[in-house]
Amino acid sequence: MVKFTIGMLDSKMALDRFNCGNDLVNRFLKEKAYDQQQRKLTKVYVIHRGADVFGFYAIACSSLRLRLPDMTSEFRVPGMLLGMIGVDKRYQGKGISKHLIDHCISLSKSIGKTIACRILYVDALGSMVDYYEKLAFRYISKTGSDRHRLYLDLL
Ligand SMILES: CC(C)(COP(=O)(O)OP(=O)(O)OC[C@H]1O[C@@H](n2cnc3c(N)ncnc32)[C@H](O)[C@@H]1OP(=O)(O)O)[C@@H](O)C(=O)NCCC(=O)NCCS
Repeated sequence: MVKFTIGMLDSKMALDRFNCGNDLVNRFLKEKAYDQQQRKLTKVYVIHRGADVFGFYAIACSSLRLRLPDMTSEFRVPGMLLGMIGVDKRYQGKGISKHLIDHCISLSKSIGKTIACRILYVDALGSMVDYYEKLAFRYISKTGSDRHRLYLDLL
């Protein structure tokens, strides 16, 4: 098993070699993530050993209109948006993204102790809905504009 630490992205980390196989996700990490973090538009957590980054996720405060099982009508539900996640190809298939998602859930639950935070949600890229479903995220709707949007109830 690869030894790693999870922490916040910093300017000394080496991102040049990072390649998760998805250009959009690679470009976000290499070109936008640190700048957006500095401007408090997102926070980026990386799984790393020293300066070598194996994977990352981006998280921000958000809200989503939906009806949860304990609700009689739609509500603007406060939560966290898991904006993006990627694992370098060298380390894929080793459970790294599971560690990142667990970290993200713990963080969201811990925020929920002081600020209302009921859900963690994602706008999944293309076929990645299967990936999030495996990790217990639920669909809001399998059709229409929400068909790529999945959430995890943190209650
Ligand atoms: C998706 C991604 C983050 C998975 O990372 P990973 O570290 O290889 O995944 P893990 O090893 O933690 O696997 C977790 C589970 O997801 C499953 N999984 C992994 N990739 C999957 C995919 N593309 N589709 C469906 N399930 C997938 C694994 O089989 C595993 O399930 P299991 O526990 O039943 O074996 C990685 O492949 C990646 O970076 N892809 C490119 C970027 C991307 O598409 N990001 C997501 C959208 S923002």
